[in-house]
Amino acid sequence: MSADRKKQLAAEAALDLVHDDEIIGVGTGSTVKWFIEGMAARRLRIRGAVSSSEATTKLLVKHGFDVVDLNSTGELPLYVDGADEADPHLRLIKGGGAALTREKIIAAASRRFVCIVDDSKLVPVLGRFPLPVEVIPMARSYVSRELVRLGGRPIYREGVVTDNGNQIVDVHDLEIVDPLALESAINQIPGVVTVGLFARRPADLLIVGTDQGTKTIDRSTL
Ligand code: 5RP
Repeated sequence: MSADRKKQLAAEAALDLVHDDEIIGVGTGSTVKWFIEGMAARRLRIRGAVSSSEATTKLLVKHGFDVVDLNSTGELPLYVDGADEADPHLRLIKGGGAALTREKIIAAASRRFVCIVDDSKLVPVLGRFPLPVEVIPMARSYVSRELVRLGGRPIYREGVVTDNGNQIVDVHDLEIVDPLALESAINQIPGVVTVGLFARRPADLLIVGTDQGTKTIDRSTL
């Protein structure tokens, strides 16, 4: 089965967790695209969506969903998003699509974070996927030197400007044995806007598309 079909399976399973009349958070990426298209196909009547990127906003609007400002919603009952990597504790690497800052904000502001992935995203230890870090443009070189001190090999993602007007540095060659500590350490570097490590706020439920269908991992049962 193709990775894209597995993404679709995971996204469809997440649709069962969406309730009419709620405002939900919606992530970014090709897996989430299936989720949005699935909401439209099933004619789910959510009250609105808080969007994590301009790309997601476009897709939501195209399918007739209201996009609302997080400042007007209070806590969200549900946030659905993909990931670039997930470890057995449901800690994640995100930001392959450069939307990590808004994604992290929405994840923090949501009661339940449901992450949808295909099984190629599962890893025993995070770090095979280069860790995205969103930086204030003037701080890019300074932050990169600090990331080298932390053991990484930062590479500037040329030509990419985030929805917040910032730049992305992807950190290669990390074996992230203590994601919580590394997330804190990178957060301390002046000029860092967001690091794409989701350890402080991991997923609550991971839905994985596999050749055999979907499997779910609930963090409360770990
Ligand atoms: C965007 C993200 C995405 O969730 C991540 O890149 C996964 O994308 P896809 O569903 O296309 O594999 O973090 O910033």
